[in-house]
Amino acid sequence: MNNQPDAIAPHGGQLVNCIATEQEKREFLEQADRMPRIQLDGRETSDLVMIAIGGFSPLKGFMEQADYEGVVSEMRLANGVPWSIPVTLSVSEQEAETLQEGDWVRLDDPQGRFVGVLELTQKYRYNKAYEALNVYRTEERKHPGVDVLYNQGPIKLAGSIWLLQREPHPQFPAYQIDPAQSREMFRERGWKSIVGFQTRNPIHRAHEYIQKCALEIVDGLFLHPLVGETKSDDIPAEVRMRCYEIMLEHYYPQERVIMGINPAAMRYAGPREAIFHALVRKNYGCTHFIVGRDHAGVGDYYGTYDAQHIFDEFDLEELGITPMRFEHAFYCTRTQQMATKKTTPSPAEEHVHLSGTKVREMLRRGELPPSEFSRPEVAKELAKAMQKQA
Ligand code: ADX
Repeated sequence: MNNQPDAIAPHGGQLVNCIATEQEKREFLEQADRMPRIQLDGRETSDLVMIAIGGFSPLKGFMEQADYEGVVSEMRLANGVPWSIPVTLSVSEQEAETLQEGDWVRLDDPQGRFVGVLELTQKYRYNKAYEALNVYRTEERKHPGVDVLYNQGPIKLAGSIWLLQREPHPQFPAYQIDPAQSREMFRERGWKSIVGFQTRNPIHRAHEYIQKCALEIVDGLFLHPLVGETKSDDIPAEVRMRCYEIMLEHYYPQERVIMGINPAAMRYAGPREAIFHALVRKNYGCTHFIVGRDHAGVGDYYGTYDAQHIFDEFDLEELGITPMRFEHAFYCTRTQQMATKKTTPSPAEEHVHLSGTKVREMLRRGELPPSEFSRPEVAKELAKAMQKQA
């Protein structure tokens, strides 16, 4: 153990741990068949895990009404602490009727396995349109986050949770690094400044460029690909993780980078999710967080830099983590390097930039994206994955 203080305090001051102790687990298992039961969906299951491991500190459970309403309308919990995304559990009228406030509720995952317990303190109704407009800035069902919201039940269940046990991740056990561990790893390496990187897409040259620009300034890079639920046309996590392994092997200074998985689900809430992503990485021990173009965006719902502007609505002290803002990066054929408008005078015709959709189309046709867009080893890996899918 190293006695160095952490580079940064968790959000709200303390790292939450809601993983049941051995004793609690035994008691929960004994009562399992007598407790009322609720089945969680994939996102709620990953939220349960994130709360339990402290990734969502200071949350200790699914939000009560005052927190939920403060978050939706003001981006603050009832006690004033910044928080931008509701973390709630919604059920049908029929399910809600079977439960009383004060009940201990057994939580099952989508496969019906007993994964956690909720001490139910509140049941409340909520306004979906209001949440959609505030959190996602649209009511359109085409938006994947809004669609999830409209498919949810009309009653929210709130209260503290316990995770029955912390299990190794079924696909990426070697990369399962929970906040207490990442903090310890940063301390051991003596890193005082750490930049977190959120991603849900295969790594391309612009990602690499902004990560390395940041790494010129700070001590360490925490690569934190999201492996919870994403929309169906996003590239699967195992392919993205393989691409990262290839990149780490060939193109990164290993001693300055740590990669861990982020088990949370994507919401596609653009600006609001950028704040949320930053706070989560603060809990993992990061002092800085990368916010590039259209962070956590989908379709044309958000302006290119809205996810950067939203940080101006907060006092940086109260967020406690510093955003590192990057303009849209591309390969510039004139200067023959990665650049942004801030660093090259060349016009758009001299910029190589491909959208995710374009790249997927190329791969489907059997073409590899150019090396100005993607490292060749990564392009090959993506092509292999596409062929398997076809
Ligand atoms: S996201 O939904 O997780 O934001 P993605 O994995 O594509 O999607 O992006 C990860 C991070 O890289 C985000 O901060 C995003 O803004 C940034 N980013 C992606 N592409 C670019 C680019 N070409 N230029 C600058 N930043 C980018």
